[in-house]
Amino acid sequence: MLKLSKLATAVALLVAGTAAVAGEVEVLHWWTSGGEAKSVAELKKIMQEKGHSWKDFAVAGGGGDNAMTVLKSRVVSGNAPAAAQIKGPALQEWAAEGVLANLDPVAKADNWDALLPTVVADIMKYKGNYIAAPVNVHRVNWMWANPAVLKKAGVANAPKTWPEFFAAADKVKKAGFVAVAHGGQNWQDFTTFESVVLGIGGAKFYHDALVKLDQKALTSATMTKSLETFRKVHGYVDAASPGRDWNLATAMVIQEKAAFQFMGDWAKGEFTTAGKVPGKDYICAAAPGTDSAYTFNVDSFAMFKLKDAAAQKAQADLASSIMGVPFQEIFNLNKGSIPVRLNMDMGKFDDCAKLSAKAFVASAKAGSLEPSIAHGMAVPPAAAGAIQDAVSQFWNDDKISVADGVKNIAKAAKTQ
Ligand code: GAL
Repeated sequence: MLKLSKLATAVALLVAGTAAVAGEVEVLHWWTSGGEAKSVAELKKIMQEKGHSWKDFAVAGGGGDNAMTVLKSRVVSGNAPAAAQIKGPALQEWAAEGVLANLDPVAKADNWDALLPTVVADIMKYKGNYIAAPVNVHRVNWMWANPAVLKKAGVANAPKTWPEFFAAADKVKKAGFVAVAHGGQNWQDFTTFESVVLGIGGAKFYHDALVKLDQKALTSATMTKSLETFRKVHGYVDAASPGRDWNLATAMVIQEKAAFQFMGDWAKGEFTTAGKVPGKDYICAAAPGTDSAYTFNVDSFAMFKLKDAAAQKAQADLASSIMGVPFQEIFNLNKGSIPVRLNMDMGKFDDCAKLSAKAFVASAKAGSLEPSIAHGMAVPPAAAGAIQDAVSQFWNDDKISVADGVKNIAKAAKTQ
């Protein structure tokens, strides 16, 4: 009997001893496509190597709308995960609720201020304190293309302007392919919309209309032209598009069923996972008219306040790992994005990533580096959600005139 209770005490001590160094991290994210899952698995591996256990909390649904709904209900019921993928202005809202942990101890020890572009560091801070760890920089204004399809359709080069694009899309259609691979989900409609606005109006117009939400810009002739162009793009989408996941749209380009897709460079994660080589099997080009601009989308993880010391240690290790060189390299190689950490060696990255890195720096200098509205970087979630709905309604219903589309979007932009 005595022996048994001694054993019990020993086991209890052992467990307590391990708990002081190793904790569990439950991590909410929406990375469930092939390329995404491969990327997040690297973070899990790093955490496990540090002795922590990883509890995966994946909520399917590109763009994260589903994940955010689930997160809210978990936090409201007092059962927040240790960490969650939260981005842009939404971080400020969560921090204002007082539920996020202050990551300054890790950020100071690891010198994040010196390692991050200021535009990114600012997004990660609430009242001067770090409340999230950034993982990457995605460029949203990409157009992906299949060169074999273009060749068969007699299109010599990836189109650089919208008129060139429509001329190419006509040829592709005539040759019997789908011109635009599109997943008909609100956030994907919104993603295409922002690239069209950027291409038609330029970075300054994009900023006024979709970052400042300036009513004059939102109701201008340039917005009318943007919506006309956006509607025209819809004419090149196949009938099976509604509801399709983004990665299935990418697969249409990979499998030579479609010529183009407008999507951020997480699409590259799918090409990479399929063993495809940029420049040979697929083309990455800026969406028409957006060559010198860059809409950015920075993924980041916020940590929720937890009482348990082991859990806190695991959170700190997670934050530190995210900003570490090994993770920044391997994760971004898989994800299609570029490292958010400055001065990383880009040797192992492909030409699309190098192009993205170059365009990021050049656009920052030129004043054409803009936050993506479709990916929660530009405006608070309420306004972004309302505009997204108005954009999708317009995309899906030809009976809504361009004039009414403009009005609806401008009205939605007033949502607070
Ligand atoms: C974005 C996210 C990307 C990618 C994409 C599709 O919002 O920032 O990392 O996962 O959704 O799911």
